Amino acid sequence: MDKLKVNIGNLFLKNPVMTASGTFGNGKEYTDFIDLSRLGGICVKGTTIHDRQGNAYPRMAETPSGMLNAVGLQNKGVNYFAEKIYPEIKDYDTNIIVNVSGSTIEDYVACTERLVELDKIPAIELNISCPNVKEGGMAFGTCTTSAAAVTKAVRRVWNRPLIVKLSPNVTDITEIARAVEAEGADSVSLINTLMGMAIDIHRRRPKLSTVTGGLSGPCVKPVAVRMVWQTYNAVKIPIIGMGGISCWEDAIEFILAGATAIQIGTYNFIDPTISVKVVDGIKQYLDRNGISSVKELIGALEV
Ligand SMILES: Cc1cc2nc3c(=O)[nH]c(=O)nc-3n(C[C@H](O)[C@H](O)[C@H](O)COP(=O)(O)O)c2cc1C
Repeated sequence: MDKLKVNIGNLFLKNPVMTASGTFGNGKEYTDFIDLSRLGGICVKGTTIHDRQGNAYPRMAETPSGMLNAVGLQNKGVNYFAEKIYPEIKDYDTNIIVNVSGSTIEDYVACTERLVELDKIPAIELNISCPNVKEGGMAFGTCTTSAAAVTKAVRRVWNRPLIVKLSPNVTDITEIARAVEAEGADSVSLINTLMGMAIDIHRRRPKLSTVTGGLSGPCVKPVAVRMVWQTYNAVKIPIIGMGGISCWEDAIEFILAGATAIQIGTYNFIDPTISVKVVDGIKQYLDRNGISSVKELIGALEV
């Protein structure tokens, strides 16, 4: 299956298909459904230095072709991950990527420093869509200065592949991508959820306890493809594309737009076997079209 191999810097993937953070637990939760070794990688749930309860319920709402969530990074903290979860997942025959989140730069750095001790984590993904508490709660990923600062600080303590996950809630995603590339990111992944809102008209109340939340699923795909294509034309580092992927055709679309690899999120909730179906679909597409490597398709869109 050499034709499916891709790499994100020094991160080698047996195929371009990964699962997205927050939608696939720690991988363990899906072992009854699929053989995890068939995946290029698994991005585990957002991990923070301290444990977090997450937001009050209701924190999910269905929307046409998608969902809103305001889970709020519920997790038991990086020490729990290192002591209890890591030993159970470290020997999976796939790349285990930890999604690192935080409220301050110091949080991100401290969380990463704990992960440095875990030698079977080949890469981390920085979730910069988190509110920066010291700067009034605006997300790190919505301003070039704070996106650059958090990338720079984490880069100093992490010498394995560093993926920075971009927020789509910006005017120009390419300037954020360039800012994190300049500070040493090995890759950017995009998109995180789009800020959205839904109202229960009978109760005249928001459907989420937090009023607004993150929109994901097939409804966001055209926005995500557009942002991947714009970013591909703006940076040299490899891109991991995601947002609404529900079939292998969607994955090919992202790759043609410039993604080296892709992640599948919300659709895991609809079909927990979707990720391996996408791997098989990409392989068959390559075979049918006589393409010897998926790498030939990266950014091969003709405009
Ligand atoms: C329930 C839920 C939880 C999520 N948690 C995280 C998270 O912890 N960290 C993160 O970077 N992204 C998180 N995301 C965003 C996804 O990883 C992904 O970027 C986004 O949903 C777009 O892809 P999709 O349309 O395929 O779901 C979450 C998404 C959902 C739906």
